[in-house]
Order: sequence, then C-alpha cells, then structure tokens
Amino acid sequence: MINVGLLGLGTVGSGVYEILNNEENNLKKLLGKDISVKKILVNDINKKRQVELPKDILTTNPYDILHDDNIHIVVEVIGGIDKAHEYICEAFKNNKHVVTANKAVVAKYMDEFLFLSNKYEKGFLFEASVAGGIPIIKPLKQNVRINNISEIKGILNGTTNFILTKMIDDGLGFDEALKLAQELGYAEADPTDDVEGFDVKRKLAILASIAFNNQIDVDSIKCSGITNINTLDISMFKKLGASVKLVGSALSSGNKVSASVEPVLVNKNSTMATVKGAFNIVSIVGDTIGQLQFYGQGAGKKPTANAVVCDIYDIISGQYKTDHFIQNGNMREADLDLFNSK
Ligand code: NAP
Ligand code: HSE
Repeated sequence: MINVGLLGLGTVGSGVYEILNNEENNLKKLLGKDISVKKILVNDINKKRQVELPKDILTTNPYDILHDDNIHIVVEVIGGIDKAHEYICEAFKNNKHVVTANKAVVAKYMDEFLFLSNKYEKGFLFEASVAGGIPIIKPLKQNVRINNISEIKGILNGTTNFILTKMIDDGLGFDEALKLAQELGYAEADPTDDVEGFDVKRKLAILASIAFNNQIDVDSIKCSGITNINTLDISMFKKLGASVKLVGSALSSGNKVSASVEPVLVNKNSTMATVKGAFNIVSIVGDTIGQLQFYGQGAGKKPTANAVVCDIYDIISGQYKTDHFIQNGNMREADLDLFNSK
C-alpha cells in the first residue's frame, strides 16, 4: 500500500483526491499496488467540501502528515511560498517523496529541493507547476540531455488567456472576465499574480532553469501584465486584424539568457491566436530536435490534478530517478548508482 499525504484540498487538491479515489482509474492495475490518501492538510476543517471524505481524514496540523512514517508521498498544493517551502523541506527530511503544483515555491527554491531530493534519494516532481495539464517539464528534461535549447516561448497562464479571449471574442470587460476565471478555479489565490504576469515569470524561470541548466532568478525577468489593456485597445487590435496574448519568452545565446513576460500583438490567423480560453501553448527550440510545441489545458481542476497524478505514478514506478540528471548539468550520485547497478 502506498500512502499519500495531501497538503491542500482546494481546486487542485480535490481533483487529485478524486482521481486517486476513482475506482475506475487504472493506477492500481498498472502499478500492482493500492494507493490511498491517508491525511489531508487544510486551513479550515469545518469548511464545506465538494468531495465526500472519510471521517478524520482532514487535519490542520502539518506534522500529522510530515511526521507520519506510513506516508510515502507528500503532495503539496497549498500554494504560497514560506509554508510550502517549510513543509517540502520537512517532507524530504522525513524520507518522503514530494510532488507539487506550486510554481511560486519551485521557482524560488528549485535548487534546494533538487539537492534535498538527491540527498535523501527521494523523488521531487513538479509537472503541474507549469502549464497545468500539459506535459512540458518531463519532455523538456528528456530533450535537455541531447539538445542545446536556445528558446522557450509561450502562453503560460490560463487566467490571462481566458480574460483576453473573453474580452476579444465575447466583449466582456476585464473585471467580469477575471471574476469568471476565478469561479472556474483558474486564478491564483491572489489574482494579481496572474494579471500582472508574475505567475508567467515563475513558470518561465522554472522552464529556463531546466533548459539552460542553471537556476534562473525570477526577479531578473522583465515583466508587464495585462491590467492596462482595456476594451478600447481590444477593438483597435481587432481593426488591425490582430489579437493580443500574454507571452513569456526566454532566449539563450552563448552564456547569456534573456527573458521577458509581456503582452504581444499577434496576427489573428497565427497559431498563438488560436489558443483560446484557459489553454496554453509552449514552444521550445533545440539544436537537434528543432521546434517542439506543446498545447493543452493550462489551468483548472482536472487537467492540473491529472499532471499531479502522473507525477505520483512516476514516483511509484521509480521513474523519478532519472530526473536527477538536470541540476547544473552534473550527473548526481543517485544516477551513478543507477548506472553502476546495470
Ligand atoms: P486553492 O483552491 O486556494 O486551495 C488551497 C488549499 O490549501 C485549500 O484547501 C486551503 O485550505 C489549503 N491551504 C492553504 N494554505 C494553507 C496552510 N497554510 N495550511 C493548511 N492548508 C492550507 O488553490 P489551488 O488552485 O488548488 O492551487 C494550489 C496550488 O496549485 C498553487 O500553488 C497553485 O499555483 C497551483 N496550481 C493551480 C492551478 C489551478 O488551475 N488552480 C493549476 C496549476 C497549479 P482550506 O480549503 O481550508 O481553505
Ligand atoms: N493561475 C494559473 C493560471 C494556474 O491561470 O495559469 C495554472 O498554473
């Protein structure tokens, strides 16, 4: 039996709980092991929940999860930075694998988490932290082994793409569109992170750190969001046959990396313009593979939870070990062990 401890039962946490408790899923069959969510950390134990839960599964004490020797995998989906950082470190120190969807904490502490994951020989996977349901981190890690990546570019935030789509296609105002995005579970707890572009900065920093083999400082990325775009601008763009997208891009040339997040005008018939609603698109360019594009749902309960559960699967099936290749381009101890044992 594999026991999971969930930190958070909001949009993403409840989706993860539902997938893991769905008797129809193939996980148990594929892994030959039972998976059970043993405990769930929340803020408010008395809050009405949309999922049916066994008695006593909720706790407000993180150590009920982090110090329970029978919990093997900790899934962090509380969001924010300080508590998430503290709980993830504590999870590693207590010999647990960690999966997270939290780009804010990964963008800031990726190096430390990879170090701890290596030190304790536990998995650390964060596929859901970038572009929701789109598998991008795993394929990027695979391609980095062979390619020199020169460019990462894309629409990396579902909330802002949803807002812009609603403003362009349905004539909604900014505030109305943002409210809808919040109701649909796309937005961050503080939507300033979405609309000011901070969320894209974090996702771009994560992708660029992997692609360029060095932790990129989030604060070094130039950033402007979509709060200054109004309905008048939108009608002008339409007259020009253009659409507007919030685009994150990171370019590497020699030893230099330049990265930015900004609204960009694109031709209404371009690929980017066809990415609507909470969908995302990410393109990477490598010297061997050329251009690769990844497209799919970038936010929301089910797609994001799907990415988290894919990581849980990779941890249980042992596939996380190869991830230790990435940090600073060095082959780390766990990988050497893996090779020596062959
Ligand atoms: P959410 O709906 O706000 O849920 C957060 C959950 O964590 C709630 O259950 C809350 O408890 C609990 N929580 C928060 N702080 C806590 C604390 N200090 N101690 C104990 N429990 C705490 O957030 P979400 O949308 O699921 O997002 C979670 C993470 O996934 C974030 O890092 C977000 O950036 C990331 N993410 C979200 C999406 C998306 O589409 N929503 C997609 C990709 C990644 P209560 O329920 O009691 O309030
Ligand atoms: N708030 C984020 C977005 C969630 O809208 O893209 C997915 O990371």
